[in-house]
Amino acid sequence: MTKQVTLTIDGKQITVPEGMLVVNAAKLADIDVPVFCYHPKMEPVGMCRMCLVEIGRPMMDRTTGKAILDDKSEPKLQFGPKLETACTNPVSEGMVVLTQSEKAKVGQKSTVEFLLTSHPLDCPICDKGGECPLQNLTMAHGPGKSRFLYDEKLHLAKNVPLGELIYLDRERCIQCARCIRFQDEVAGDSVLGFEERGRSMQIISLSEPGFDSVFSGNTTDICPVGALTTADFRFGARPWELSSSASICTQCPVGCNITLNTRREAMADGKIVIKRVMPRQNEEVNEIWICDKGRFAYHYAESMERLSKPHIRKKAGTDGRSERTSQRASWEAATKLAGEGFAKAKNNLMVLASGRLSNEDLFNLKALTDQVGGKAVLYSNMGGGGLTSLVGVGHGTNLGELGSPLQGKIGSTIVVMASDLYEEAPVWYLRVKQAAQRGATLIVANPRETKLDRYASFVVRYAYGDEVKTAQVLTKKGKIGDAFIKAENAVILFGSEGLGLEASTALATACARALNDTGHVGKPNNGLIGVWPRANDQGAWEIGFHPEVDLQAAFDKAEAVYIVGADPFGDGALKIKSGRRKPFIVVQDLFETETAKLADVLLPAQAYTEREGTFTSGERRVQRFYQAVPALEGTKADFAITSQVAKQMGVILEGTSASVVFDILAADNLSYAGLNYSRLSEVEPQWPIVGRSDLYYGGTTYANKQGLGVHLTTAAQRGEKVSLPRIQKTIVLRPKEKKLLAVPVTKLYDRGITVSSSRLLDGRIGEAFVALHPNTAEKFGVITGQHVTLNLDGASEEVVVKVDDTISTGIALVPRSMGLPISGPTEVSLKAVRKAAVK
Ligand code: SF4
Ligand code: SF4
Ligand code: FES
Repeated sequence: MTKQVTLTIDGKQITVPEGMLVVNAAKLADIDVPVFCYHPKMEPVGMCRMCLVEIGRPMMDRTTGKAILDDKSEPKLQFGPKLETACTNPVSEGMVVLTQSEKAKVGQKSTVEFLLTSHPLDCPICDKGGECPLQNLTMAHGPGKSRFLYDEKLHLAKNVPLGELIYLDRERCIQCARCIRFQDEVAGDSVLGFEERGRSMQIISLSEPGFDSVFSGNTTDICPVGALTTADFRFGARPWELSSSASICTQCPVGCNITLNTRREAMADGKIVIKRVMPRQNEEVNEIWICDKGRFAYHYAESMERLSKPHIRKKAGTDGRSERTSQRASWEAATKLAGEGFAKAKNNLMVLASGRLSNEDLFNLKALTDQVGGKAVLYSNMGGGGLTSLVGVGHGTNLGELGSPLQGKIGSTIVVMASDLYEEAPVWYLRVKQAAQRGATLIVANPRETKLDRYASFVVRYAYGDEVKTAQVLTKKGKIGDAFIKAENAVILFGSEGLGLEASTALATACARALNDTGHVGKPNNGLIGVWPRANDQGAWEIGFHPEVDLQAAFDKAEAVYIVGADPFGDGALKIKSGRRKPFIVVQDLFETETAKLADVLLPAQAYTEREGTFTSGERRVQRFYQAVPALEGTKADFAITSQVAKQMGVILEGTSASVVFDILAADNLSYAGLNYSRLSEVEPQWPIVGRSDLYYGGTTYANKQGLGVHLTTAAQRGEKVSLPRIQKTIVLRPKEKKLLAVPVTKLYDRGITVSSSRLLDGRIGEAFVALHPNTAEKFGVITGQHVTLNLDGASEEVVVKVDDTISTGIALVPRSMGLPISGPTEVSLKAVRKAAVK
């Protein structure tokens, strides 16, 4: 237990852990010391002098080592001749701090006055106006009147792009370096720096492309003035015009807590629209951060292309495309036709749903499937979700605790297998990096270099195909095995880099067995985590959806197919084979996707911003999202549509209230037992305090008042007997002489519908590419920047060549969701279409 010390701040006595900074002790005593450069998530630097206070320390008798007492037998205090910074001084026993003495007030006032000497004071047109620490601190601690002349202010550039996402207003910058330190210390992307000196000193981007970090948006939250703004929100609205709704990011399995700021918008015909996505504090999930994908890729829900009416195809063509007579229909007619088709198909119904859907949607879909005796299929190429229900991380897990010295004698070990967390789940990347920096042992195993390697105690390189063998090393004697076996806590995050469904299932099984065999299951901070492609894949597994090894065969066999929240035809995962009978297809989605074009019945669904529900994160934390904007007219929530279809079949499923559907799910599924919407909405005090009333700490991050979510239990945690399957042997493809083996990798910014609708991210999505080792490129006669046609499983796509010497020879890395239907390792050929554009 950390030693406690007692001190007095402005007459209030408080006992806090030894070593805490005065500024934080004051916050705990409900006293706000004004700060600019200090931020509790970063090391203090004492740069701005805003936090000046008087500090008195007990005088000590050097001979006895005891405090010298005054006439009243109180310890005599010695105050320093100068004011001290509350953000760099740690507390000590008997310390007395005066934050509001005349001397302290003069110091604070002088600092504000100095900072304002060249500040433009353009609050009326500044994006930060209304939620700006400088504004607030000037009101609370400033001089009220400036002695400086406006005309003598230094005028600097106001519209400097640091990259295409973040803009700098040089005049507003107070040179606190929070943005630079965030990038260096928190994000680990040192892409910002200072240039020039004195008042002209300015923030510059050191990277090409500009501000090259997937965490860049966070700097706009913690910048204490309006110097950094996002290209998305700048000049978009005033903070006081905005309403806030709690939500969960749907872009990856981390489940970052977010706030959607909305406003009625004249430019959107008076509709209420989302103006920005902001982080919402959840110290066990995303702390106070989100990545740029989560912040900027939300525009798809507002797209003009949204479906708003059910459609039915009067007479289907034989190949599914001809005689396209899809017509608008009433909900009654469309759901009746769907219900009739499903009832007729009976156990030849396949329900194909994705982890884009909420738990409530998936539960109703599964209930309908079971009623008919059909098959519930998860649209995914990654396996192992059944194992996370058994030996996943369970109740009480907090990656933020791993690596802390309190975590036992031998500490914690985190293994990241076959995943590039920076690209696949950026906030997990931050959490794992921090755990390693705190002292956790990090083992990163991947066939190529990833950004996380820098923080790893052990980097394991293996050949694509050797994933299972590599996971088995964890339980064998040796340096890596010892670090894993002897660890007090061990967590494995497994992904699907280079793997298809069967191989990723085999890898998950090997990881689950390694954890089980070494006793790292059934307790908090231990177990398996899937780095899933979609936000609620874990929820889908828990509810009983499983991917099909041969999706095409399952489709061909089905008499009716209900496809919800997925575009398998657009992705190239399914084809209508010529001469084959097309099954009866019902599609439920937001857009008229390639799959929707084939539908006999098309049902328009609501976006997650238009309704409420829950998602289960990859860490198996169930979290609520709330309605932020009115639903697009004519659409319904997925669970409600399924209920209406079921009703047409004589099956009663809850279709009005998402919370009631969740109650039924919780009563039906052991992992969710005891949960309900009010439990999920519970909050407890978090540190640091990010109340937006003071703005000193979290910047514009929102405090969490709407729920921290609850972890599901695992079978191991419930004390059930866990029997893990054997590791299935899979066919392993290896690169052959003169042949190229393509393996799938995940890229953060891809061409998925939820990302590509956000025009702002076009530059980050870039062109579809194939990455090769320089020797492989040479062997195939291509160079970097050259356009080639890549032929893969009968599909061909023009892609640009990238050369990367960290890739194995004979391998072609092909990003998922960039136009090529890659579901696992496969042989490909490439052909140059024109000469290289870039040398
Ligand atoms: S841009 Fe903002 S965060 Fe960065 S140094 Fe300037 S004031 Fe501080
Ligand atoms: S890390 Fe994942 S969940 Fe968090 S903001 Fe980014 S995409 Fe969203
Ligand atoms: S010196 Fe303490 S907040 Fe800047």
